[in-house]
Amino acid sequence: MNAIFPFGLPHPTAVYVNLFLLTFVLHQTFMHYVLAGSLYLTWATIRQGCTTHLIEQPLAATLRDWMPFLLSAAITAGVAPLLFIQIVYQYQFYTANLLLWWRWGVVVPVLIVAFYLLYLIKSRMLWTWPYAVRVAVVLATSSSFVFVGFCWTINHLLANSEANWPDIYTTGRLPFSVVAVILRMLVWIGGSFATMSVIVGWQLNYRQSHHSDSSTVAGPRELAGMSICGLVTAMLAAAGYVALSGAAPRSLVFGTFSLPYVLLAISGAILQTIGWSLQWRSNRLEVFGLSLSTIGSLMTLFGVSVIREAIRISAVDFAGLYPRHTEAANVGGFGVFVVVAVAVTLVIAWCVRLVSTGMHDVDKDYSIPERPTA
Ligand code: HEM
Repeated sequence: MNAIFPFGLPHPTAVYVNLFLLTFVLHQTFMHYVLAGSLYLTWATIRQGCTTHLIEQPLAATLRDWMPFLLSAAITAGVAPLLFIQIVYQYQFYTANLLLWWRWGVVVPVLIVAFYLLYLIKSRMLWTWPYAVRVAVVLATSSSFVFVGFCWTINHLLANSEANWPDIYTTGRLPFSVVAVILRMLVWIGGSFATMSVIVGWQLNYRQSHHSDSSTVAGPRELAGMSICGLVTAMLAAAGYVALSGAAPRSLVFGTFSLPYVLLAISGAILQTIGWSLQWRSNRLEVFGLSLSTIGSLMTLFGVSVIREAIRISAVDFAGLYPRHTEAANVGGFGVFVVVAVAVTLVIAWCVRLVSTGMHDVDKDYSIPERPTA
């Protein structure tokens, strides 16, 4: 691994790993919206008590409106990296799935419940219910997403610790340090607020440009604050996580293989901060600032994904997997993948366009019906 990623890897391996990374970035983009969105909504619901109408906040209202759709986008976009990970790390991935046992089995039921809860949160009915019930519903929803993310983290760590598999199988105990798991979770939880702020920033910018009274649009300062705090948390946690990793992963991360991607991730974070600072100063959501933050966000997501991959590559016998990649490349099916990927993307884009015309409707009734009096 003396060349910059992906140079130096055999052609089929480089193609599959890059396809995994690109589709994984897409999955993260949508998943971050749902994860950070549900956590924000939990906080907003707890803070508002039962006197103020949560719906009066455009940020919360937009999240409530769009989270069910973005969850389906996150799940759809998760299928492609799920496909490529099985090609690149088949043996490690399947073994981790088996060792995760019931935790892996409950991921799908938990996701189904969370999906329905998102629709309940979107409905006007929930907001007529007592404060305690509203808090319980949003808390259950955000906890479900954190739990699903936690399962993916443990699955990833399990796949990378082949030496511990016999022990885990016989004792059922997971050998990971709580600090390392928490740091890793803080990387994706913190990062999710940065990504979510960019997407919802565009949505609110759109609303702002179609709304005569821009004072009703969420303050860019709230989004800027969330994004920058999220980025700082994620970067500190990432530094802590890499410091805790062994010498082998560190030398690959900071060696020729992935150092350019460390710089890419940091430059992306700086670009995002500049974009949000401009909007903080003008106190408006602006196309230029949002564009800087969007480009920065994509740079950070891709950079971090390559660093994440470098750590995994250092933990497994990666060269031993090359023949399997060559074998998979000879089977074919790439053309079908491209056709289906383009078709699905077009259908999703068409759905977004169809739904977003509803955002033109600036008088859309966001109010909560009065609670019936006894
Ligand atoms: C909203 C629900 C979901 C959340 C919150 C979520 C969260 C996450 C997180 C946090 C990771 C990275 C874990 C880490 O690196 O520590 C991850 C990885 C991944 N997720 Fe999701 N995920 C969700 C749903 C899905 C679904 C439904 C699929 C498949 C259809 C999926 C496919 C993947 C794949 C393939 C990876 C990469 C695993 C690896 O590299 O080890 N995710 N997800």
